[in-house]
Order: sequence, then structure tokens, then C-alpha cells
Amino acid sequence: MTTLTLARPDDWHLHLRDGAMMRAVLPWTARDFGRAIIMPNLVPPIVTGAQAGAYRDRILAALPEGSAFEPLMTLYLTEDTDADDVAAAHASGLVKAVKLYPAGATTNSASGVTNFDNVRLVLDRMAEIGLPLCVHGEVTDHDVDIFDREAVFIDRTLDPIRKATPGLRVVMEHITTSNAVDYARAQDDSLGATITTHHLVINRNHILAGGIKPHYYCLPVAKREEHRLALRAAATSGEARFFLGTDSAPHTDANKLLPCGCAGCFTAPNTLPILAQVFEEDGALDRLEAFTSKNGPAFYGLPVNADTITLTKTAPDLPGHIDTEDGAVTVFDPGFDLTWSVQ
Ligand code: DOR
Ligand code: ZN
Repeated sequence: MTTLTLARPDDWHLHLRDGAMMRAVLPWTARDFGRAIIMPNLVPPIVTGAQAGAYRDRILAALPEGSAFEPLMTLYLTEDTDADDVAAAHASGLVKAVKLYPAGATTNSASGVTNFDNVRLVLDRMAEIGLPLCVHGEVTDHDVDIFDREAVFIDRTLDPIRKATPGLRVVMEHITTSNAVDYARAQDDSLGATITTHHLVINRNHILAGGIKPHYYCLPVAKREEHRLALRAAATSGEARFFLGTDSAPHTDANKLLPCGCAGCFTAPNTLPILAQVFEEDGALDRLEAFTSKNGPAFYGLPVNADTITLTKTAPDLPGHIDTEDGAVTVFDPGFDLTWSVQ
């Protein structure tokens, strides 16, 4: 196969940041994707409907001329979140999901949730109105090994929340373990799971063996090879519960290459060429469109994008890094030569 036409993909988990960084990274997503769920972990976070509306306006103002890219806004759940404000932001069509960060789990998550009893009313309201909860699924307990934090979160936090809030629609975001794949498969269609580009490509050896690779460090951290293989099998299965959320998370090289560097892989520019290659290698090119373009809209109750993109079997001309006013941002290196280009 030398050309591949897909309904235009969407990205169901994206960090655009703000200001100069947003202006530099947004065109890369807007070039290939129709819509994206925009993460609210700015400093300070996007907590209210009014803040989400203002952030959406800043994104729209930064879009390249003529772009039809649509940012789908989220609210950052805190223990002070007002259920009425959430419901109003959803009713107006502005907000498509609420994001749960356990406090301290990752970049800019300090305002997240510590005591889940304090968000119970908001979760109940979300179940009532059908507004999905996007979950960063890691416990933050210091006595839990970082490679076990996702599996422990499923048992200790996620499953109890879902049982206590019947009908709540939940997205397990950026899953990294076979435990998460198995849990997702055992649930009804109120549960979806996103998988990133980079977790289909790297395992923890890529980060740590033969020298530390800060550009491969992200959260949840990549796990053992057996987990990567489980993620690949899930992504390429075509099953409706699994869809693409790149978690493309730009940080300047200056902030990555530190004694205590930031978590995040910047995959917006080369996600589709990487995915085409991954699906081709696994004999699943016919299921790529389900993962990138169909399963996500179905979960969110949105139409599939009406336009298409075409990939051709030629090496893409993509930069190794992009320049921003804040400094260079390195593009994720999959460790192999890419063979598909977005036309
Ligand atoms: O690697 C990550 N980077 N994981 C997250 O959950 C947050 C993200 C970021 O905002 O940089
Ligand atoms: Zn993220």
C-alpha cells in the first residue's frame, strides 16, 4: 500500500500551553488534526468556565489563517470546583470533559485532588449530565513504586470512584500497562482509554539503558516491554474503547535537560507518520482510522470529521526540533526512519 486516506484524525489528549509556546506548537497539531481535547494544566490551571472560554479564544486567535481546527476545552478538577459552573460550561457547548489530576501526579498538578470525598458532588453532577471525566491514573503515594502507580491507581482509586458514581463516563488517559488494558476491556462502554504515540514505541529501557534519555521521560513513565506490546495490541485491535490521545507535551530543551527535568514528549509533528508505521508493522493499517479518527468521536458523541487526510509512502521532511521564543523544543525521536508522510 502506498497511499492511505483517513477521516481527519482528532487528538483526545493534547497540551498546547499558552503564549509563545502555544503559538509555536499549535500549527503542528492544526495541520493534521481536526479537533483536540485541550489539557487545562496551565499555571494557574483552567478551573472555571470563564477561564476555559478565554483560553479557547486565545487558541483560536493563534491558529494559522484558514485553519478549521477546533479546540475542545476541559476544566481542571479541584476540591473547590463548583458543580453549577461545570454544568453551565458543558450546557453551553464550551467544555467537553473535566480533567482529574491526583494532586502532585505530574506537571502542574498541585491544585489537583487529594480527598475524593470533596469532589463527589461534582462527579455525581457529571454523571447526571453525561460529561466525561478524563483521568490521569497514577497514585502519588511515595511508598508506591513509580512503575506500579498506574496499576495501584486502578484498584485503589479508579474502580472505587466508578462504583460510587454509576453512569460516570470516564477516559483512562495515556494508559501504559497491560493492567489498564485488561481493566478497560472488562468494562462497559461508559469507559474509554487513550493511548499515546510514544508509549507504542518506547519501553523503559529506551529511557534508561545505555545513558539516560530525558526526551523519553514522560508521565506515566514508559513500562516494561510486555506492557508496550499490550498497548500495541490494544491500539491496533480496532476496539471502540481505545483511541488516540497523543499527550504531546512540549517543554523547552532547557527545561528537559536539567538535574530535575520536566516530563513530556513532543509528538505533535510526527504522530501520524509514526502511527502509520506502527500499524503497518503490526499488519493493522486497515484499523488505523478507527484508532485515530472514529473511536474517539464515538465515545464523545461527536461526528467523525467530514474531511480526510492522505498519507503517502515517502520519508517525511520533519524537523528534529522546533524553535520557540522560549527556546528549542525537541520533537520525539521514534528511533527509526519514518516512511509515511502526511500529504
Ligand atoms: O509527561 C507528561 N507531561 N505527563 C503529564 O501528565 C503532563 C505532561 C505535561 O503537562 O508536561
Ligand atoms: Zn497529559
